Amino acid sequence: MMLVSIVFVCIINTVLSESQPQLQPDPEVWIERGAPDCTTTEDDCGVFGLEYVRSGVGEGSACDTGTAVLCRSSAPHTSLVDTPAHTLAALSYNAFERNWFMSHDGQRERSCRVPATLRRMLPDLDVIGFQEVFMGGCFRGKLTLRHLLAQHGFPYTTRTVGAIIPQAVTDDDNDMRVGFKVLNGGMFVASRWPIVQEDSIIYENADPLSWDGFSKKGVSYAKINKTDASGRWKLYNLFSTHQQTGDNADIKVGQAAEQRAFVDRLAIPPDQPVLFLGDYNIDLYDDDELLSAVMATLEATLPATVGERECTSDGENDLHDDEKSCSWLDYVAFSHTHEKPTHATMEAVRPMQEEGFPICFDEGKILRFGYLWPDDERCTNKNYAVRDLSDHFAVLGRYMFPE
Ligand SMILES: *[C@@H]1O[C@H](CO)[C@@H](O)[C@H](O)[C@H]1NC(C)=O
Repeated sequence: MMLVSIVFVCIINTVLSESQPQLQPDPEVWIERGAPDCTTTEDDCGVFGLEYVRSGVGEGSACDTGTAVLCRSSAPHTSLVDTPAHTLAALSYNAFERNWFMSHDGQRERSCRVPATLRRMLPDLDVIGFQEVFMGGCFRGKLTLRHLLAQHGFPYTTRTVGAIIPQAVTDDDNDMRVGFKVLNGGMFVASRWPIVQEDSIIYENADPLSWDGFSKKGVSYAKINKTDASGRWKLYNLFSTHQQTGDNADIKVGQAAEQRAFVDRLAIPPDQPVLFLGDYNIDLYDDDELLSAVMATLEATLPATVGERECTSDGENDLHDDEKSCSWLDYVAFSHTHEKPTHATMEAVRPMQEEGFPICFDEGKILRFGYLWPDDERCTNKNYAVRDLSDHFAVLGRYMFPE
C-alpha cells in the first residue's frame, strides 16, 4: 500500500504548479461534475463560497453533454487597515489541507473560503505562516489559495517548502532530496508586503514511521519589508514551521536545533526582529517542559497569551469528534538574540463562517484519489455541515517594536 501511495504522490508533486500568480482582481474557475454527462448547476459555485458567472463549456472541459459553470471569487468588500511599520500582526495557521489519498474533510470547501474570512476578521493582518497546505488550496493549479490571497491583499508568497518542480529550477540541492519524502512540506508564507528574501530547509530529524516521514516538513523563511502611510519601513524575518507530530521529544528538540542553525546561517542583523511561527505539535499545558526546551534551543521567547480562547486544537471545533479535547499547539514566538519587541501577545482566533456549509467528511477514505462532492453517495458522512475552516484555530501574534 505504501508503494502505491508513493507512486500516486509523485504524480501529484510533479504536476503541482507554484508560480506566483499575477495580480488579477477577481479570479475565476470553471467547474463541472459528473463528466462526461455533466450535471453541474449554478449552485455548485456556492459549495466553495464562489459566485456564479455563467454556464458553458470551459477550456479543456470533459463534458460531452450538460455544461460546466464558471465561478468567480467575489471582490473583497471590506478594506484593509493600515498600521505603523514598527508594529506587526502575524498569523500562524495550520489550514488542514491534506492530500485526498489521506482524507476527505472539506479541504476544498474550507480552503477556498480562507482568504476572504481572514481579511474580514483581521483587516490589519500583515503576514501569514501557513502549514498543511499540501495541494495548494481551493482548486489546484486553477484557483489556488495563492490566487485568492493575492486578490485579498496578500500578493507575495514564498514557494511551498520542498515542492519539487520550482525548487529544482533553483538548483538548490537541499530541496532535491526526495527518498521517501514524496510529499511537499505543506508550508509557505503569505505577505501583504514585499518579500525581499526567502529560503527554506527540510528537517533531517523526522520519524520515518509517521506520516511526517513522507512529507518534507521543514521551515519556510521570508524577510518582508513593511511600509506605512508615512513612508517609514521596517524589515521583519519570519520563520514558519510545522514540527513532527507525536511524542518524540528528541526529534522535536532536534528540529528546533536545525531551525536555529538555519537562522544563524542566514546571519540576520541583530537589530532586525526574528519571529518563529508555526504548529509545534507541543501542548502549552501538558508539555510545558518540552516546550521550554524547544524555545530555549530556538533562543526564543513566547509572548503572553491574551483573549478568551484557551486552545488552538479544540473540541468545540466542528472538525473534531472529541468534544473535550483542548490543547494549544501553535505559536508566534520571537528570537531574543534579535531586536526585542516592546510589546507582544499571542491570541487564538477562530476562522469560521457564521453559517455551516456542507462537506464530505470521510477521513477513512484512504487512497480514494480525487475530490468528493459533499453529497457524493460514496461518502460515509455526506453533507456534513461545518463552520470552521480548519481543525486548528489560528494564532495571531501582535508585536510592537521600538519606533
Ligand atoms: C523597503 O521599502 C522601501 C519603500 O517602501 C524602500 O525604500 C526600501 O529600500 C526597502 N528596503 C529594502 C531593504 O528592500
